[in-house]
Amino acid sequence: MNKGWIIGLGGGTLAAALLSGLAVDAPFRLHMGILTLVLGLATLVALRLPERAASPAGELTYMDGPVRIGSLLTVFWGVVGFLVGVVVAAQLAFPDFNFGPWFTFSRMRPLHTSAVVFAFGGTALLTTSFYVVQRTSRARLFGGDLAWFVFWGYQLFILLAATGYLLGITQGREYAEPEWYVDLWLTIVWVAYLILFLGTLLKRKEPHIYVANWFYLAFIVTVAMLHVVNNLAVPVSVFGSRSYSLFSGVQDALTQWWYGHNAVGFFLTAGFLGMMYYYMPKQAERPVYSYRLSIIHFWSLIFLYIWAGPHHLHYTALPDWAQTLGMVFSVMLWMPSWGGMINGLMTLRGAWDKLRTDPIIRMMVIAVAFYGMSTFEGPVMSIKSVNGLSHYTDWTIGHVHSGALGWVGMISFGAVYFMVPRLWGRERLYSLRMVNWHFWLATLGIVVYAASMWVAGIMQGLMWREYDSQGFLVYSFAETVAAMHPYYVMRLGGGLLYLTGGLVMAFNIWMTVVGRVRTERPMPVPASLQPAQ
Ligand code: HEM
Ligand code: HEM
Repeated sequence: MNKGWIIGLGGGTLAAALLSGLAVDAPFRLHMGILTLVLGLATLVALRLPERAASPAGELTYMDGPVRIGSLLTVFWGVVGFLVGVVVAAQLAFPDFNFGPWFTFSRMRPLHTSAVVFAFGGTALLTTSFYVVQRTSRARLFGGDLAWFVFWGYQLFILLAATGYLLGITQGREYAEPEWYVDLWLTIVWVAYLILFLGTLLKRKEPHIYVANWFYLAFIVTVAMLHVVNNLAVPVSVFGSRSYSLFSGVQDALTQWWYGHNAVGFFLTAGFLGMMYYYMPKQAERPVYSYRLSIIHFWSLIFLYIWAGPHHLHYTALPDWAQTLGMVFSVMLWMPSWGGMINGLMTLRGAWDKLRTDPIIRMMVIAVAFYGMSTFEGPVMSIKSVNGLSHYTDWTIGHVHSGALGWVGMISFGAVYFMVPRLWGRERLYSLRMVNWHFWLATLGIVVYAASMWVAGIMQGLMWREYDSQGFLVYSFAETVAAMHPYYVMRLGGGLLYLTGGLVMAFNIWMTVVGRVRTERPMPVPASLQPAQ
């Protein structure tokens, strides 16, 4: 079975070396050089790997190899992404932290957004979708080694994207910075992912498709569509790193935000809702509150999300009707979003006491609470008059991180804590108390981060628009920047707390994997909070 891998990786190494030799620009040459090195090393590893034994015929065994590595990589990428976030926050507070040319804010910022969204979030989504679809379908992943191809192919995409940013290669589209050749590679990997997921669903032994899989499927299909359309471009040379978009002007802006907003809707929301619908009921040991509500939630969410993108382009050259359409659909989005939040929270009915005793459930509940908060704030910010104040300010950054740290981060941590002991056949996690520490560090970090950005953002917006009686602006831009400084320092503190929580998780997960169990007192429940006898 290894033969196919060796031929593929060896061929890839040769092709990358050839491209590096033929390159017409220095960044492309360097990028292909990195690719040659990585694929070459992977070929050596494949050569040394022993042949794998086939699983016994007739017996259902789940393919958990990629899930195991994926759980560890999720934690790894999380810590890396948070660390780069902290560096970026430090650069905004103290510009001396910019080290040119590779480590300036302009290159580190997309490194941060991609590391957290695509490396941390994406690996969490791939990993959990592999875990969930097998268990809810009672079927092994379709296509043999296809799952490994998807998994490592996606990691290669992350590596190419991240090294590209530091080398200064970017097509300048937010959340879609990688250049044309990296985009092409991701398209191949994503189509393979779709085949893998659909193939597994088709051979399922369960009569119906569990709702979590609907959300994962929507995430996979929509991201494929968004990625292809947003990245339509013509390369300047097939041996070079530059390309030009097929779109221009306001059409380009609309395409970018149709992509950008739905990346939020289908990458940062739909996939993670899939996680919520599987891991929350499992951890709470309760059925989903309402299966019917989950179906309504699904269809209304995916129908409404796709129209809301223009709220990112208020008061621009985009026709007014399109802006208003985006606003109206965004306001309507509040309802399905809260339907989902209620469904998640109410899954705990009859098991609320677990909030006191189980820090993993607490993590999931706070995730859903932040989901509710950011999906209330988003519709408010999409109202044109509110957006007139919030746009370009750090209020948006506060909104982003209440969703990202609170919702995306916490639900992923919960899923990893759930899976790891089961995947390695451990009785429990190394330490439940450390999960509790992680919970409080992360929650405090989010509160400090989001609150400082809300205050800073609204102050910034108000300072920008203040006129005196003569019609002159009261504040210069530099004065508004100076006023932001204390809040930037506070945000850095919040980020550090969140990062520390991530490190605690990494330690706990690693100790669980190596089979250690910490001797610790059970989590105390104050007598006053004990249920009445
Ligand atoms: C320790 C944790 C984190 C810190 C300190 C941090 C810090 C930052 C900073 C300083 C920026 C740039 C803001 C600006 O340009 O004004 C930023 C942007 C961003 N971060 Fe984070 N971040 C963290 C975690 C995360 C996570 C977990 C996610 C997603 C899952 C995330 C997603 C984003 C996004 C999408 C942006 C771009 C926002 C925009 O353009 O409006 N961050 N972050
Ligand atoms: C009903 C749901 C939501 C609506 C209607 C919504 C609406 C909005 C609005 C109006 C903006 C500001 C646009 C601007 O002024 O440029 C925004 C920015 C953003 N939101 Fe949301 N939001 C929602 C949920 C979420 C969630 C759950 C997350 C994260 C998990 C999120 C992530 C972001 C990001 C990353 C941006 C910054 C985009 C950028 O400028 O780079 N949103 N959202």
